[in-house]
Amino acid sequence: MTSFPLPPGSTIGILGGGQLGRMLAMAAARIGFDVAILTPEVDAPASRVAARTIVAAYDDREALAALADVAQVITFEFENVPARALEILAELGARTAPNARALAVAQDRVDEKTFLNGAGIPTVAFRAIDDLEALREALKDLGAPLLLKTRRGGYDGKGQVWVQRMEEAEAALAALGYRPAIAEAPADFRREVALIAARGRDGEIAVYPLTESHHENGILRRASAPATASARVIAEAERIAATMLAALDYVGVIGVEMFERDDGHLLVNEFAPRVHNTGHWTLDGCEVDQFEQHIRAIAGWPLGPTAPLIHVEMTNLLGDEVDRWPKLAREPETRIWLYGKREAKPGRKMGHVNRLRPLDG
Ligand SMILES: Nc1ncnc2c1ncn2[C@@H]1O[C@H](COP(=O)(O)OP(=O)(O)O)[C@@H](O)[C@H]1O
Ligand SMILES: [Mg+2]
Repeated sequence: MTSFPLPPGSTIGILGGGQLGRMLAMAAARIGFDVAILTPEVDAPASRVAARTIVAAYDDREALAALADVAQVITFEFENVPARALEILAELGARTAPNARALAVAQDRVDEKTFLNGAGIPTVAFRAIDDLEALREALKDLGAPLLLKTRRGGYDGKGQVWVQRMEEAEAALAALGYRPAIAEAPADFRREVALIAARGRDGEIAVYPLTESHHENGILRRASAPATASARVIAEAERIAATMLAALDYVGVIGVEMFERDDGHLLVNEFAPRVHNTGHWTLDGCEVDQFEQHIRAIAGWPLGPTAPLIHVEMTNLLGDEVDRWPKLAREPETRIWLYGKREAKPGRKMGHVNRLRPLDG
C-alpha cells in the first residue's frame, strides 16, 4: 500500500522515455527517488538516466504489472499513452497521477475543448468533423478559413491543415487520412502565452510566471519568461489554470497553451497533462523547476516555490541545430540541455538552451 508523502528511496514509475521523462528522472533523483521507465523504445533518452527500464508496449499487461511492482506511484511523460494502460494499472491497484480522466480529455481535441467550454473557459469556435458533410456545414457556420486537425495523436503541428475554401474540403480530409477531426476557427491572437501550473495531493495549487511562446510550423521555437503582461492578463491565466486543475481533480504539473487576443482576453488552445516544453525555462529560471514540482506533487510532497530568479529565453535545438553545442558551450549566459537522442532528424527536439539575463526592472 502506497501512503503519501512518499519517502526518499521510493520508486517513481514513468510511462514514456523521451526528454520529458529524462528531465523528470533527473529531478526525481535529486530529491532521493529512483525512477523506473516503461517505454517501447530501446536506449531511450530517459532510460539512460533512470535506475531501471522495462522495454515493452504501453499496454503490455505483464510489463505494467512489473512496473507497478517496483513503483509506488506511476506518471506519464507522453500524452498519447493508450488509455488502456491506465485502466490496466488501475486494475492492478497501482496509483497513477495525473488521473485517467485528465489524460483522456487531453488526448481528444473535441473532448478537450468541450471540457474547457463546460468549465466556462473560452476557446476558438469549433466543430467535430467525421465526414465531408460535417466539414461543409462547419465552413458554412463558422466561415473560412478553418484549421482542420486530427482529434487524436497530433503534436508539434502534425496532423493539421488549413482549409481556405469550400472546394478544399475534400482534399483537407484526405490529407489527414479521413481520420476523425476537429475544425477550428482561426484564433486572432497578438501572441501566444503559456502557463505552467501544479496541483498537489491536498489540492494546493502553484503557478509559474506567464511564458510568451513562439511557434514556427506548429513547433515551439522559443519561449521567454517571465512574460511582460498586465496584472489582469496574469490573473486571468491563473484563474483559468486553477479552474482546470480543480475541475479535473488533478495531481501534478499541467501546461496550458493560450492565445492572447488583441483585446487582452485569453483563449485556451490546448493543455498538456504533463510537464511542458514552454516550462523548460524554469530549469534555470525558478526556485523549483517544473520537473521537481511534478515529482513533488505526485509524491504527495508540499509544492515548491515558483518565483523567478532570472529572466530566461529558451530556444529549442531542432534537428542538426544540436551540432552548434561547441559554440553554445562558450556562451557564459547560456545553459545547455541535451537529450541524448542518437539521431538528429529534421524538426526533432534534440535539446534546448536557456539564455539568462537579469530580471526586468
Ligand atoms: N485555431 C487556431 N488558429 C490559429 N493558429 C492556431 C490554431 N490552432 C493552432 N494554431 C497554431 O498552431 C500551433 C500548434 O497547434 P496546437 O493545437 O497547439 O497543436 P500541437 O498539439 O501540435 O501543439 C499553435 O501553437 C498555434 O501557433
Ligand atoms: Mg500545442
